[in-house]
Amino acid sequence: MATKKLKTLRPFDRLRVDGELSRNRRQAQGLYPERSRRIKRGVFITFEGIEGCGKSTHSKLLSEYLENKGYPCVHTREPGGTKLGEAVRKVLLDSPEIRISDLAELFLFEACRAQIVKEIIRPALDRGRIVISDRFSDATFSYQGYGGRVDLKAIRTLDRVATAGVVPDLTMLLDIDTSEGLRRARKKGIDRMEKKDLSYHRRVRAGYLRLSKQYPGRIKRVKVSGRIPEVQAKIRREVEIVLRKFERPR
Ligand SMILES: Nc1ncnc2c1ncn2[C@@H]1O[C@H](COP(=O)(O)OP(=O)(O)O)[C@@H](O)[C@H]1O
Ligand SMILES: [Mg+2]
Repeated sequence: MATKKLKTLRPFDRLRVDGELSRNRRQAQGLYPERSRRIKRGVFITFEGIEGCGKSTHSKLLSEYLENKGYPCVHTREPGGTKLGEAVRKVLLDSPEIRISDLAELFLFEACRAQIVKEIIRPALDRGRIVISDRFSDATFSYQGYGGRVDLKAIRTLDRVATAGVVPDLTMLLDIDTSEGLRRARKKGIDRMEKKDLSYHRRVRAGYLRLSKQYPGRIKRVKVSGRIPEVQAKIRREVEIVLRKFERPR
């Protein structure tokens, strides 16, 4: 039954990150049973950075590129990616009438993370997929921690529980000037997070930079100054270095 449905999917369904995540969910549930012949185990890649830095653009391009090279990928986003996540995403981003403190925000993001790890990320990694997530734990440290000034130790404790030990193998930090990022993001409409003032977003960016210095092996910073293909080429270079580590011997 599942295979019949799959035939009707359009080529871009696997990149659709809104709503149902149809193909991704089917992949995670194992209805695409083929394990990658190229890598020994699942690989988790996350994209981070302030609003408008290009996470959605580059994470989708990377997913498409890797799929074409024969690596089965699952693309997802936070908050979102599951039914619970998409519902909470609406509360977090598009409900200006609801007041949410920085601490409450932390719990909502972590609730979404616990769900997506259990429902999508962990099962996909166990099946040897490359999971590409548009945001993950680093966003919580940067936004609620550095931006919202919630105690970092509390975040660490909560995040460890929510992720059940899932840590990215590689994190691409797309770094852009704060005002330029916000300008790009605002072209597409303004959500609740984007409404926070410039100094908040500056702290978020500084937080990300601090994290990249703290975890230089995992977090690779790419400056978003050139055009999309140039930035994407830099990302692919970093990804290939990591994938080489997990390549199966031929
Ligand atoms: N070098 C670049 N890398 C990424 N995006 C770029 C670049 N140059 C211009 N842009 C534009 O900036 C915007 C980035 O938006 P998006 O990918 O949605 O960012 P995010 O998901 O991080 O908020 C897009 O409209 C994209 O076309
Ligand atoms: Mg985005």
